[in-house]
Amino acid sequence: MKGLILSGGKGTRLRPLTHTSAKQLIPVANKPILFYGLEAMREAEITRVGIIVADTKEEIISHVGDGSAWGLEVTYIDQSEPLGLAHAVLTAEDYLKDDDLFVMYLGDNIIKEGFKSLVDEFLQNRPNAQILLAHVHDPERFGVAELSNGRVVRLIEKPQVPPSGLALVGVYMFDHNIFTAAKSIKPSARGELEITDAIQFLIDEGYVVDPHVINGWWKDTGKLEDLLEANRILLDDLETRIDGSVDERSRIIGKVIVEKEATVVNSTIRGPAIIGEGSIIENAYVGPFTSVYYNSLISHSEIEHSMVLENVKLCNIPVRIEDSLLGKNVEIIKSDAKPKAYRFMLGDNSMVGLV
Ligand code: TTP
Repeated sequence: MKGLILSGGKGTRLRPLTHTSAKQLIPVANKPILFYGLEAMREAEITRVGIIVADTKEEIISHVGDGSAWGLEVTYIDQSEPLGLAHAVLTAEDYLKDDDLFVMYLGDNIIKEGFKSLVDEFLQNRPNAQILLAHVHDPERFGVAELSNGRVVRLIEKPQVPPSGLALVGVYMFDHNIFTAAKSIKPSARGELEITDAIQFLIDEGYVVDPHVINGWWKDTGKLEDLLEANRILLDDLETRIDGSVDERSRIIGKVIVEKEATVVNSTIRGPAIIGEGSIIENAYVGPFTSVYYNSLISHSEIEHSMVLENVKLCNIPVRIEDSLLGKNVEIIKSDAKPKAYRFMLGDNSMVGLV
């Protein structure tokens, strides 16, 4: 069995971050989202993994390499345009076709429990496809399944009137029939070959599509609020570890990781929180559910429930920062320069909330 991780796409909902970077590499609890998927593949004993890539190919290759860091054999597969999940499957057909079965994983999803038991179940029952479902409050944002007597009867992509609260989770298991299905469907109104339509084709043609409702935590990290939630949940799982330096005037409360070469001076860090390698926290407060990635500086400022990526500078901010995502190299610095004015250089689609 092979693995297929989808790491192309447009990432429009996470602009401006995705103007310059792959959303699959945004660090959640200081680990790129994609790495959770690679770990889950390894754990499920799937070692040959194809990764669908597009514009951000080089950045993804620089992070994942040949996959050997995870004990995987990674092959990169170019998708010419983000024409849908079923299009990505067809793009990978040559790579996948010498094995009858594969598991497809959306590279921006995080499934806390991984999927080993689900792969085992698929191999044991051998339906033509197995889909994962989860109860959600806002099914209109997802592909939604309608079940009858425990069988999938209908799948609809982002329905205005959802037939159930069961959303498709971003892990699917297929046999080769999915290629015929993906070739038989037409692009949807948004111009994409939808995986929901391909699976619907399988159902309509009498193939066996097994549903599996998961109860564990799962997140499709397409939007800012999803990322903050994922960060919150995964930070809560960390165990305290202080490898960097913390001076005697600082207070560390709750579950906190301070990575090597990180420095905490005259500050309070209230966990769950993580301070990445080489970052400096001085005369500052870092509150619960905050991750600071590597080589960032937080000085004379307060921040909580936020994600700070690498090489960020946050200095002398008079009001606490909350619910925020600061992309790499962002600088927010209060100065006493006259005239007194806000000075911004913001990328397209940036969001700033002032008080
Ligand atoms: P989506 O989140 O559905 O799409 P997107 O990444 O284009 O984001 P947005 O809706 O904000 O514009 O994609 C799910 C995953 O699949 C994500 O990791 C990107 C990947 N993907 C591909 O690799 N190829 C594709 O053609 C599409 C549509 C997505």
